[in-house]
Amino acid sequence: LFSAIEMAPRDPILGVTEAYNADQNPAKTNLGVGVYYDDNGKVPLLECVKKAEAELAAKLAPRTYLPIDGLATYDRAVQELVFGAGSAVVTEKRAITVQALGGTGALKLGADFLKHFSPAGTEVWISDPSWENHRALFEMAGFKVNAYPYYDPATRGVNFAGMLDALKTMKSGSVVLLHACCHNPTGADLTDDQWTQVIEVVTSRGLVPFLDMAYQGFGDGIAEDGQVVRRFAEAGGPLFVSNSFSKSFSLYGERVGALSIAAASAEEAARVLSQLKRVVRTNYSNPPIHGGQVVATALASPELRKLWEDELAEMRVRIREMRQLLVAKLKEKAPGHDFDFVIKQRGMFSYSGLTKAQVDRLRNEFSIYAVDTGRICVAALNTKNIDVVVDAIAKVL
Ligand code: LMR
Repeated sequence: LFSAIEMAPRDPILGVTEAYNADQNPAKTNLGVGVYYDDNGKVPLLECVKKAEAELAAKLAPRTYLPIDGLATYDRAVQELVFGAGSAVVTEKRAITVQALGGTGALKLGADFLKHFSPAGTEVWISDPSWENHRALFEMAGFKVNAYPYYDPATRGVNFAGMLDALKTMKSGSVVLLHACCHNPTGADLTDDQWTQVIEVVTSRGLVPFLDMAYQGFGDGIAEDGQVVRRFAEAGGPLFVSNSFSKSFSLYGERVGALSIAAASAEEAARVLSQLKRVVRTNYSNPPIHGGQVVATALASPELRKLWEDELAEMRVRIREMRQLLVAKLKEKAPGHDFDFVIKQRGMFSYSGLTKAQVDRLRNEFSIYAVDTGRICVAALNTKNIDVVVDAIAKVL
């Protein structure tokens, strides 16, 4: 069985972390994976999480199985966060939400569900470029995955005309994966007006939108970043939304996310949920308790919710400050190069324009790790490591 199995390549993102972990250089820097570090280079344990955990620890409960679709209080809180508490899909019970193993787990549940219930030959479209795991995940679920134009290296922005033209030629029923905010990897988001046009084309052509929202709160704020989801939900039609609390609650290892689906009626939603539960049951039976409980506790308490929003805002602001600092320092150290675009990018990442050869040099000569595409995690920069990073970038340019 195993003799013919070939060695798989390292994961393009987590493989960078593996290489970083193996590096013996004490001055190494990991700008690969999308993880937020504070100014001391530490992954924060949020105060709202500590307080929620203290509340939970004070009333320790046995660990029986959760329902297949997860903790009910969690699912409800997530649904209200994603669609808005008073939104029609929620009040009319047309939305369903299941707890998932992070945003990746939510995408996989959606992919498996879609593969099972979409007509044969249905294809998936992701942006060019997209988070590396999108293609792999939908291909593993059995789909043919295509890419629609998205990033324009000439303008460092979105090739919107190309994107819209591609949407207009997709077959009805095609699944279109869209980044709700903080596009990963480019940091280039659509404007409100561009979203209006995308929603119009997706809806009128009968495409199936799958919104990935792994970075809610890292763009402009929780409600602001969630707007696109709400606008799609108002437009009607089937809608898939994967969301994650890995980054926004700094709960990476707890694997807390959810898949929400908006359907046309409460009756349709009930049938969808019943089938989605079968996907969960045959994959991992039911989700783990702890992370979901922490998030549900924090979202349910006005005090902890406020604390969370403040802590998330602090992360968002620090990332923006790092963008400013990076650009200012690069102006000094690499005066012939224009990095102003970094300030306009949103979320954790900068699609820096560094080539694979330059990324290799950063890694081999300076123990600075980035993704081969040139994506760097701005949220891993801090006032202590930025000079080392800027000096190294200036040398490899
Ligand atoms: C990333 O893009 O770096 C994150 O979403 C982490 C991951 O799982 O790839």
